[in-house]
Amino acid sequence: MKQTTNIVKLSTDNCEGYLSSIAQLEQLCFGRRAWTQSQLRQEIANTFAIVFAYNLGTELAGYISARSVADELQISNIAVFPQYRKHGIAWALLDMMKESARTLGNTVIELEVAVDNVAAINLYTKYGFVAAGTRRNFYPDDGRGGNRDAITMLYKLV
Ligand SMILES: CC(C)(COP(=O)(O)OP(=O)(O)OC[C@H]1O[C@@H](n2cnc3c(N)ncnc32)[C@H](O)[C@@H]1OP(=O)(O)O)[C@@H](O)C(=O)NCCC(=O)NCCS
Repeated sequence: MKQTTNIVKLSTDNCEGYLSSIAQLEQLCFGRRAWTQSQLRQEIANTFAIVFAYNLGTELAGYISARSVADELQISNIAVFPQYRKHGIAWALLDMMKESARTLGNTVIELEVAVDNVAAINLYTKYGFVAAGTRRNFYPDDGRGGNRDAITMLYKLV
């Protein structure tokens, strides 16, 4: 990838130009449970939310969102457009979240991942997350047939 890359922290002041691309990425990755533009706008306005966009040139390649709650940083979503996958973008976005978590004094990063999401489970495991339990029917049916179980994974910062 030879285009200029940059990662932007989104806020209510700078997010409008990103919402349509992020909503498109959400739809592509998460189907019926995708966040809409208005949900994304609301999330970014939440005091506890942290959202980063990864740009390649003028295009959005991926994004990540999380909430900092007490000592935990809870990652809600991470997604990369298919044409930009396997180039380390998700890894770079996780690095940004880890830095934010450290700055905020979080001691652990927590996330849920669908039991059949091999790419994401591999990503998190390689990054250093450890499985901590299973949540039955955590993901409602996204149109691909039935609810799905999730694995909770943790990354300890201290
Ligand atoms: C999961 C996802 C975010 C990974 O993004 P990415 O930018 O391609 O990931 P990276 O390039 O940073 O990959 C880092 C590591 O993750 C693992 N990984 C990533 N994609 C993988 C795949 N398709 N199969 C197996 N392992 C994979 C690999 O270990 C990889 O390291 P390597 O390239 O040295 O082998 C992306 O596939 C995606 O957007 N999926 C749809 C949305 C989604 O499922 N999000 C997670 C919700 S919990």
